[in-house]
Amino acid sequence: MASASTICFATQIIHKKKFISTRSKLFHQLLVDAEQVFHSDAAGQRWSKKSYFQGYTSYGSLDQLHRMTDSFFSLSKKLNVMVTQYVKLLGFEIKSSQLYLSRMWLNVMPKFCYHPWHIHPLSVISGTFYLQIPGPTPIRFEDPRLPLFMNRPPIRTPLDSNYISLFPRPGDLILFESWLRHEVPAHQFETPRISVSFNFDWA
Ligand code: NI
Repeated sequence: MASASTICFATQIIHKKKFISTRSKLFHQLLVDAEQVFHSDAAGQRWSKKSYFQGYTSYGSLDQLHRMTDSFFSLSKKLNVMVTQYVKLLGFEIKSSQLYLSRMWLNVMPKFCYHPWHIHPLSVISGTFYLQIPGPTPIRFEDPRLPLFMNRPPIRTPLDSNYISLFPRPGDLILFESWLRHEVPAHQFETPRISVSFNFDWA
């Protein structure tokens, strides 16, 4: 029976471990520049107070980090390469030059901060690069078929659960298609979780 089955409609997520070495100059500079953005972005602090429970994001204030410092620009160059590879893997009939980095922003999550389920509307590829992860706070993805399951019994095998958790480490990169719902559950550690998120849009 098993040999006759076909796996179809797979969703491909990239988890590139050690995308940038935590011992590299670039990684160190990204951390320094992230701290600088965090401390200097008064508009972002105000925006986050209203819109991002307990945490800080530059999403509503400084979402062009790749135009602000050499380090974020270097990160964006590396992301272009990875996204080009990902688009090939996905088989999109689109030139990689038609996708461009539209937004790049910083996230700082202190203890108990969480990021509820969401998608990145109107973008094509989204992702996050991780700068500081003091403990295992995952990013979770939801099975996109979930709204269509009517009377389907629960699934036992972890490989086909309706949710998967990825546990990034500092220096890791995660890429996914922007329509895929995801969340970050409440951060459980005293040291903040720091990451840089981004969207690639279709030109
Ligand atoms: Ni997101």
